[in-house]
Amino acid sequence: HRLELKLEMLEKAGYDHFMLKEIYEQPRSIRDCLRGRISPSEGTVQLGGLKDYDEKLKNANRIIIIACGTSWHAGLVGEYLIENYARIPVEVEYASEFRYRNPVVSEKDIVIAISQSGETADTMAAIELAKSKGALILGICNVVGSSITRLTDGGAYTHAGPEIGVASTKAFTAQVTVISLMAFYMAQLRETTSPTVLKELITELDSIPTLVEKCLATEEATKYIAEEIKDAVSCLFLGRGTGFPVALEGALKLKEISYIHAEGYPAAEMKHGPIALIDDELPVVVVATKTSSYKKVLSNIQEVKARKGKVIAIITEGDEKIKKEADFVIEIPDAHESYLPLLATVPLQLLSYHVALLRDCNVDQPRNLAKSVTVE
Ligand code: G6P
Repeated sequence: HRLELKLEMLEKAGYDHFMLKEIYEQPRSIRDCLRGRISPSEGTVQLGGLKDYDEKLKNANRIIIIACGTSWHAGLVGEYLIENYARIPVEVEYASEFRYRNPVVSEKDIVIAISQSGETADTMAAIELAKSKGALILGICNVVGSSITRLTDGGAYTHAGPEIGVASTKAFTAQVTVISLMAFYMAQLRETTSPTVLKELITELDSIPTLVEKCLATEEATKYIAEEIKDAVSCLFLGRGTGFPVALEGALKLKEISYIHAEGYPAAEMKHGPIALIDDELPVVVVATKTSSYKKVLSNIQEVKARKGKVIAIITEGDEKIKKEADFVIEIPDAHESYLPLLATVPLQLLSYHVALLRDCNVDQPRNLAKSVTVE
């Protein structure tokens, strides 16, 4: 027994939990994910697992992204990036819904299945269905040789390394990295984004691991804020654009490991329902960095404050304006809004981790959840 304990301590590399270790591994896992795939000097992306399908990708009618849980959130980020840069219409589907709703799929469609474990039963069944209708199936998986990697025609591994914590952290940011690479790869093939813009994006992507390191420095702030929200009954997460999937993922992390009810919402949809919940007891976490929707998000913050909500804002470092409006801020480095999910997710992972610790929850193995869901 003692040997087992020692082994576990070794595996955690000095961290108290696997989740924390995996959060801190992200600069490295994203770097591993990018290795050999980008050339910042040329402004190009290479993905070996896609290159046999260049013609299909050039002429694709539509992309359908299929996933569950956190992987589905990575798919939503993919929708923004693929549509914006590669100009292919994208639909993001829960595998469990897709498989049972007689979807319209043809040989001209490309399915991208995203799965950390590569074993999720619903995702596998959705792949089989799309395959039977003739679609090309690409995968984004973390576990090498897993079932989904054997069902797909091609794809790309996330290379995040084993993820032990049940709530996904480093696998998510690696999935987002891969889907960004895929979006740029398709844009390059289809010439839908200028080479100069692509080069700038790829150069910036190369520096993302360093910026993620800076995001880890928000841990002290998240510890402090965790004290403020640990007794909340419910929590609202808001974001717009690429900040919307971040809000969903932030809410999911909090639910999964601290058992506080949380809901992620597109900030502008707040007025159609969640605004009714706002009072001085409700923490509202807002992704409010300097993106194209900054001003709109700022007014959403003011709407929350007008109803006495407690605002916790993720802001671009040095933003004095939102600092004055919000109750608490978490500052992250400035970056292109396409990379917001890679950066803003990190403090939200740390925040839910610290809330869970304060509530004495089992961070690595939350109740009722499984790392890999092999039943439907
Ligand atoms: C489970 C895990 C989640 C994960 C989801 C999808 O619910 O607890 O962390 O996001 O399955 O898993 P997959 O392996 O397909 O990404």
